[in-house]
Amino acid sequence: MNIDLRSDTVTRPTPGMLKFMFNAKVGDDVFHEDPSINELEKKAASIFGKAAGIYCPSGTMTNQAAIKVHTQPGDELLCDVTAHVYNYEGGGIAFNSGVQSKLIHGDNGRFTAKQLEASLHPYADWLPRTSLVTIENTSNRGGGTYYQLKNVKEIAAVCKKNNLALHMDGARIFNALTETGESPKEWGKVCDSISVCFSKGLGAPVGSVLLGSEEFIAKARRVRKLFGGGMRQGGYLAAACIYALDNNIKRLKDDHQRAKHIAKILQSKTYVTNMLPVETNIIIFSLDASMSAEKFTGALKKDNILISMIGNNALRIVTHLDFNDKMLKVVEKALKKL
Ligand SMILES: Cc1ncc(COP(=O)(O)O)c(C=O)c1O
Repeated sequence: MNIDLRSDTVTRPTPGMLKFMFNAKVGDDVFHEDPSINELEKKAASIFGKAAGIYCPSGTMTNQAAIKVHTQPGDELLCDVTAHVYNYEGGGIAFNSGVQSKLIHGDNGRFTAKQLEASLHPYADWLPRTSLVTIENTSNRGGGTYYQLKNVKEIAAVCKKNNLALHMDGARIFNALTETGESPKEWGKVCDSISVCFSKGLGAPVGSVLLGSEEFIAKARRVRKLFGGGMRQGGYLAAACIYALDNNIKRLKDDHQRAKHIAKILQSKTYVTNMLPVETNIIIFSLDASMSAEKFTGALKKDNILISMIGNNALRIVTHLDFNDKMLKVVEKALKKL
């Protein structure tokens, strides 16, 4: 039995999802003629109470397209120091949009309205024009931590007061909403744009949607084409995302419970240090000098269990749709030996 806990992106479509994909109605999406993509965009927009959506091949593309539409070259955006848009999208903020980033040192990926306000600067000819704030929910490098809506309402108020757009990288937004029970429509009201991924916890093979106003999405459509993301009969892939929305949200709480179970076992180990709060499906922790990351991952690998090394003797484990209770038992046994 192979158990891959490196990321929630490693899942493969289930037979039910594949059957649904196989039966999708498709057309040329560059001509707006793919019924399945049109349906997915409409469905996702309606869940978050947004006017429109656009289906893209990846979360990187939805985030980068959003940044491109919200900004002008020479602008500045504000994000947390751990943000995916800043750390893991190939320098795309600078490359695609000619924008520089100002980093806020938040709490495991989340910052407050007060911290945002303190990071703003007044207008001056010689200062970059700040135009965009991005938040990440849940925060990947923050260990799957999530925002409370009331805190983001405060952030949105600072944005409004200072004429800044607010983008949410919601690659794992449904993991967050599973825990808070908050309504996606309320989140749609506070964020100008939202990126939602289907290829993470929701278990689809490909794709993300970007949501926003009609005008914003019309501009994002041009950017998607410019980035090479205009798809033709992409409806087969969009169908997997529709299936994921209908079938794979409720079960996310199982991933969270399994992550918490693994975290508890790890916490009983004397060599495990600095574990970030495990709020959803991600566990980030470090090892002290008595146990190297290579030795730890090597031992797990012998039991066919894969986890990620993320530097400085730190490790990451992510639970997902292809990880079940039977596998959890195998992981428990392997960890207890270590
Ligand atoms: C928080 C976050 N945002 C965006 C992305 C980018 O998604 P993709 O891999 O589909 O480009 C990821 C990928 O893991 C992520 O974790």
